[in-house]
This record gives sequence, structure tokens and C-alpha cells, in this order.
Amino acid sequence: MEALAPATTASKGHEYRPCPPTGCRSPCPALNTLANHDYMYVHSNTSLLFALTPIALLSSREGYDLSFFDLVNAIVHVYNLSYALAGFLTLVGFLTCGRLSFGKGMSLAGETHVKSTWLLYLLCPFLLVLDLYAAYGPRFVLDLCSLSCRGHTKISHDGSFVHPNCVSSTAPLPTLVGGLLDFASTTRNLDGRPRDGLGLIDIAHFHAHRLKNTPTALNNIHSEVALGECALTWEVLRGHQCYDGPSDHDHNACLKDYLDGVIPRTRLEQWFGEERLPDGWWDFQGVRPTTTVGLVKVKILANSIRSLARKTSCSSCSSAHASSYPNMASE
Ligand code: HEM
Repeated sequence: MEALAPATTASKGHEYRPCPPTGCRSPCPALNTLANHDYMYVHSNTSLLFALTPIALLSSREGYDLSFFDLVNAIVHVYNLSYALAGFLTLVGFLTCGRLSFGKGMSLAGETHVKSTWLLYLLCPFLLVLDLYAAYGPRFVLDLCSLSCRGHTKISHDGSFVHPNCVSSTAPLPTLVGGLLDFASTTRNLDGRPRDGLGLIDIAHFHAHRLKNTPTALNNIHSEVALGECALTWEVLRGHQCYDGPSDHDHNACLKDYLDGVIPRTRLEQWFGEERLPDGWWDFQGVRPTTTVGLVKVKILANSIRSLARKTSCSSCSSAHASSYPNMASE
């Protein structure tokens, strides 16, 4: 039997379990983590039935048949992304890799416990039609593994943090995870003290290095996607450093924190390597972002990472890191 991670109050029912043998996963650590902690559900929410009746949710550690709104809700709940950003990311995923599913929806008859009320009797014929639709009608769903499909119209790209170039991948490559962690363990502050993690500039350096090793340059869309992933990594993993309540709010200190912050190595290992929520995720002022991560913020950050990565000359990148990180040099 698999060992379960100790459950904190907040994570009750959402213990970490890696992908079951019958399950499927994506190249995205964020989504795989949601599945490994059972934060995504499968039900037919395409009908009004969902709004009117207490439908039992089926858990999906398997990673198949995910519906749009379930995914958006899980992302917002766990990573504190804005609905706009979560909706945008999910929409892109569905449009590029989603599929129509027939007849797999849930029937009210077998699965739910509906309280008999006069309103329900009145709505009965209407609900029956919707129920049939939910059970047999078409639904737009996503299987996590379909996100690994490659091509110009897909999301998957070369130059990832922990996934190999040129092939479909649904699990992090241990050598690349090792390379990322090695890199993180040797970063230094300006005063020479070890950072033991990734600052914003280190993410840009690592990204530049990975791009340098791709067989062909990324197209514009994939470049934007990759930068977006760098920005999202920073936003969701850097941990909360700044209390944004009405008083005692020193914006300069917050900005300094923001720029000086570091994603610790262990956190990178847990999220990228094991695809689990890092320790302390749900703690008060823990790792989970306490301020909502929005679309504009991520776009601005992605642009900054692009500038930082451009400034990273290949020579400085290799002289500072590559010789000491054989894993970084190739896959
Ligand atoms: C909280 C939201 C999300 C975060 C923080 C996030 C973060 C990331 C990161 C950091 C990577 C890069 C992994 C690597 O380079 O090895 C990645 C890859 C990917 N993500 Fe997400 N992601 C999020 C949501 C989504 C959504 C909603 C979708 C689509 C439904 C998605 C699809 C993908 C795909 C297809 C890749 C693979 C790209 C590649 O080839 O490297 N992600 N994601």
C-alpha cells in the first residue's frame, strides 16, 4: 500500500497520492498536483441540475473526463488564481486538447439524494430532460494526458523546466529535476550568501539556459507560454511574504521582499519533482498565495522574465552554473 502524507486539517480528504496505475497525468505540475491531492471532481455540471440539486461529486484522482468549471474552481481554490486567469488557462487547455464525451454524464436517478420538495415535483419534467442530457448528451471534457500532445496548435513545448524536449511527456524527468535542484542549491545573493532556492532572476537564468538547449527555437506562442509558466511558478511558489492588510503595510518592504524572495529548493522538489503541494501550503500566511494572482500581474511578470532572460548572456549562464551542473547541460 502507498504511504499517505500526514493530513493537516485543511487537507483532510486531500491527502497526497501519486497517480494510480489506471490514471493519467499531464506535463503540468500544477494540474498533476491537483489530481494527486484529489482537488478535481468529475460530474456533469453542464445542466441546471447541478445548480438545483445536491449532486454527489465523484473524485478524480485518475485525471480523465474533467469538466471546465471543475478545473477552474480547483485552480482558484488551491492556487488562488483569479477566475479570469484560471478561466483563460483552462480555456486554452480545452480548446487545444479537449474532447467531446457522450453518455458518460451522471444520472440523477442513481447518484444523488434529492430532497423531495414541491418545487422539485413542479420542475420534474424539465429536470428529467436535463437529466437525460446530463447522462447522455455531449460534454466537453479534458483528459490530463491529452495536454502532452505536441504541435503548433498545442500547449506543450520544448525548453520546459523538467520535461524533455521533442517528446510527449506526462511525468517530470528525474535528471532535469536534479538539474533544477542543483541549480537552485548554488544560487547566491549579491553578498555571496547561498540562497538555496530560486529567485526571480534565477528563474530567468534557468529558463534562458533551457531555451539554449532546445533543438529549434520556440515559436512566438510557445515562447509566451513558457514565459507564462515561469511567471506562474514564481507567483504560486514564492510563498506569501507580505501582509496586505490595511495597516502596517510598507509597500517598499513588500516590493523588496518580492524581488529578493526565493522559492526554496525543497519546495521546488515537492512541486516539480513529486507533484505535491509543498509543506505549509495551507498554513496561515503559508505558501499558498494570499493575494489573488491575476492575469495582468502574470503578464507583466512574464515580460520582466523575458527581459531578464535576454540579459542573461549565454556565457555568464554557463560559466556561473553549467560547469557545476552536468544535469543542466543535456537531458
Ligand atoms: C495554477 C495554474 C497553473 C500553473 C501554476 C501552471 C504551471 C505550469 C508550469 C510551471 C509548467 C511548466 C512545467 C515545466 O516546464 O516542466 C506548466 C506546463 C504546462 N501546463 Fe500548466 N499551469 C497552470 C495551469 C494550467 C492549465 C489550466 C492548463 C491547461 C488546462 C495547463 C497546461 C499546461 C501544459 C500543457 C503544460 C506543458 C508545457 C510544456 O511542454 O512544458 N496548465 N504549467
